[in-house]
Amino acid sequence: MNSTIYTREPCDDDSAADAFDFVVVGAGAAGCVLANRLSEGGNWTVLLLEAGGSETYSMSVPYFMGRLQQTEFNWNYRTVPSDTVGAGLDGKINYCPKGKIVGGTTVLNAMCVIRGHRKDFDRWEAIGNTGWGYEGVLPYFRKMEDMQIPHLKNSKYHGRGGPIKIDYFPYQSELSKLVIQAGKEMGYEELDYNGEKMTGFGRVQTTSFNGTRWSASRGYLHPIRHRKNFFLRKRSLVYKILINEGTKTAFGVKYRRDGKSFTVFARREVIVSAGPIAAPQLLMLSGVGPKEHLQKLKIPVIHDLPGVGRNLLNHGAYLGLIFTTDKPLSRTPQQVYGDAANYVDYFTAHRGPLSSVGIETVSFHELKGTEFYSPGYPRFESQYVSSTLIVNRETAGGFRIPPHLYDTYFKPLENKNSFQVYVFDLRPKSVGKLTLADNNIDTPPIIDTNVFGEEEDVKVTIAGIREMIKMMDTPSFKKVGGKLYDTPLPGCETYAFGSDDYWKCAIHKLSVIFYHESGTCKMAPISDKMSVVSPELKVHGIRNLRVIDTSIMPFMVSGHLSVTGYMIGEKGSDLVKKDHYSVEQIKSS
Ligand SMILES: Cc1cc2nc3c(=O)[nH]c(=O)nc-3n(C[C@H](O)[C@H](O)[C@H](O)COP(=O)(O)OP(=O)(O)OC[C@H]3O[C@@H](n4cnc5c(N)ncnc54)[C@H](O)[C@@H]3O)c2cc1C
Ligand SMILES: *[C@@H]1O[C@H](CO)[C@@H](O)[C@H](O)[C@H]1NC(C)=O
Ligand SMILES: *[C@@H]1O[C@H](CO)[C@@H](O)[C@H](O)[C@H]1NC(C)=O
Repeated sequence: MNSTIYTREPCDDDSAADAFDFVVVGAGAAGCVLANRLSEGGNWTVLLLEAGGSETYSMSVPYFMGRLQQTEFNWNYRTVPSDTVGAGLDGKINYCPKGKIVGGTTVLNAMCVIRGHRKDFDRWEAIGNTGWGYEGVLPYFRKMEDMQIPHLKNSKYHGRGGPIKIDYFPYQSELSKLVIQAGKEMGYEELDYNGEKMTGFGRVQTTSFNGTRWSASRGYLHPIRHRKNFFLRKRSLVYKILINEGTKTAFGVKYRRDGKSFTVFARREVIVSAGPIAAPQLLMLSGVGPKEHLQKLKIPVIHDLPGVGRNLLNHGAYLGLIFTTDKPLSRTPQQVYGDAANYVDYFTAHRGPLSSVGIETVSFHELKGTEFYSPGYPRFESQYVSSTLIVNRETAGGFRIPPHLYDTYFKPLENKNSFQVYVFDLRPKSVGKLTLADNNIDTPPIIDTNVFGEEEDVKVTIAGIREMIKMMDTPSFKKVGGKLYDTPLPGCETYAFGSDDYWKCAIHKLSVIFYHESGTCKMAPISDKMSVVSPELKVHGIRNLRVIDTSIMPFMVSGHLSVTGYMIGEKGSDLVKKDHYSVEQIKSS
C-alpha cells in the first residue's frame, strides 16, 4: 500500500500563535467546510485542530475501505452489549468506526451519496428550526457539489464547481446491471434518487473522482493550503473547551499534542465539529450537559443541558440477507485481491474492481401494501453488495462475526456464487444515548444505540426483506437461478424459516449499526427539553460556542450522512458569517 501523504494536504502549523478569530475542533466532513468558508475573504484567522494525522494515497483506493478500519486512523469505538442489535456478534457488541484523521470519517466511509427526502428536512423545520426545510438546505447540497455524472450536470438538484466531486465508481459489476434491470421488471424506475423523486433504483452516486476517494480534506482543505489566515494543527486532541463561568462565554480550548498541553484563544467563537460521538463528549467534559451525570463524574457544571448525548440516532442493517446464483455476477474479495490484473487496471487507469467499494447499486422502497406505506416517501433502503463480502474471515471479523457463526452460516457460501443485500429502515423509531464513563478524554464514551429497540423498526425491516425476496421472481433473476440463501441462522432454527418470528430473531442476532450515529446535540428551539443548539447552531446558555456537524440533526434523514455533514457545514458557515458581518457593520456605523 502507498503510505505517501498527499502532497497537497495543508502542512502542520507549528507556530506558537495562540489566538485566532475562530477555533474549529475536528477536521471531518463539517469541520473542513468551516475552515474553508470562514477563512475565505481573508478577514478572519481560523485554526483547525484535528486529533488524527495525515491522509495518504492508499486510502483513496475504494476497495481498500474495509481495511482502513483496522488502523490507528479509526477511533475504534465500541457499543455496549445489546440484545436488540448484533446479539449474535462477538460479546453482543458492535464496532462503531469513526475517522481520526485529516478528513474525518469521510476517509473511512463507503462514499455513497444519498441526501434523504425533502420531507425529512421539512420535519426538521416543522419543530421550529426555521430555514432548515428542504428549500432552505437544497442550495447548500448544491453548493458543495461538483457533479461529474454527465446526465446530472445540468439538473436543478445538483451543483457544479463546488468542492466535492460526485461521480459513479468507474467499475460496475454484472450484479449492479442485473439488479437495476430486475428493479424495472418489478415496476420501479431507474432514477436520480437525489432528485425530484426518491423511490426506485439507481447506480450509486459517490464522493469520488476518477476512481479515487474524494475526502473532505481533498475537497475543502487542499485548495486552501496557501491561505495565510488558515492554520491546521494535526495530532492535536482537544480535551476541554474554556468557558468563563461568570459570563458563560467560551474563549478558547485546551489541547494535547506530542504529550504536551497547549491553550489557544478564540477571539470570536469556538466551533465544535468533532462528530456525533466526540462533540457531546467534549461538551460534557467541559461542564455542559446533564447536571446529575456530570456531578456524578466530578465534572464542575457550567451549564445544565439535559439533552447533551441524548437523541442518539442511527440506522440498523440486517447482515444475513443473501442470495445465490448459478452464474458469478460479481467477484469475491479473494478474486479481487488475488488477481494481479486488478492492480494493473487500477494503478494504470483507476479502473477495475478496485475502483469500487463493492456496492454499486441502491434502491428505495415505499413498502406498498404494508402499514408503513406513504406514497412518494420511501421507508426502506437496500444496498447490493458484490459477492458476499463476509465470505472472508477478514471482513467477517470487521463486523465482529464470531468463528462459530461464520463457520455455520457463511462458510458454506465460500465456493458458491452469492451476493448480499444490506437492508435498512430509513427512519427508525429507536433512539439511543451516549454518556461518559469518567471524566477523562482518553476513555471512550458509553454508546448505547438502542438500534432495533422498537418493534416497529424490526417490522419495517421484515417488510423490506420480503420485498427483496420477490426480486428473485423477476425474469432477470430467474435466468441466473437467483435463490434466497435459506440456511437457518444459528440460534433461530427453532422458528419456521421465513416466518415473522424467524426474521425477528435473525435481525436481532445478525444486525449491525449502520454507522450513521448522529443527533447527540439536537438542534431545536430552547422550549424542547432535549435541545442542545438553536437553529443558528449556538449552544443554549453559552456564548461564542457552536456545534456544527451531524450531531445537530434533530431527526434521522432517509439518507447517508457525509453529504448531510457537508450541507450542515455549508449552511452553518453562512450562519456564522451572517452574525459576525452584522456585528462589524454595527461597529463601523
Ligand atoms: C464505515 C463507515 C461507512 C460509512 N459510509 C457512508 C457512506 O457510504 N455515505 C455517507 O454519506 N456516509 C457514510 N458514513 C457516515 C459519514 O462518513 C459520517 O456520518 C460523516 O463523516 C460525519 O461527519 P461529521 O463532520 O459529523 O464527523 P466526522 O467526519 O467524523 O469528523 C469528526 C472529526 O473530528 C475529529 N475529532 C474528534 N474528537 C476530537 C478532539 N477531541 N480533538 C480534535 N479532533 C477531534 C475526528 O478525528 C474527525 O476528524 C460512513 C461511516 C462509516 C464509519
Ligand atoms: C471583510 O469584512 C468587511 C467588513 O469589515 C466586509 O465588508 C467584506 O465584504 C469582507 N470581505 C470578504 C471577502 O468577506
Ligand atoms: C485518472 O487516473 C489515471 C491513472 O492515474 C490517469 O492516467 C488519468 O489521467 C486520470 N484522469 C483524470 C481525468 O484525471
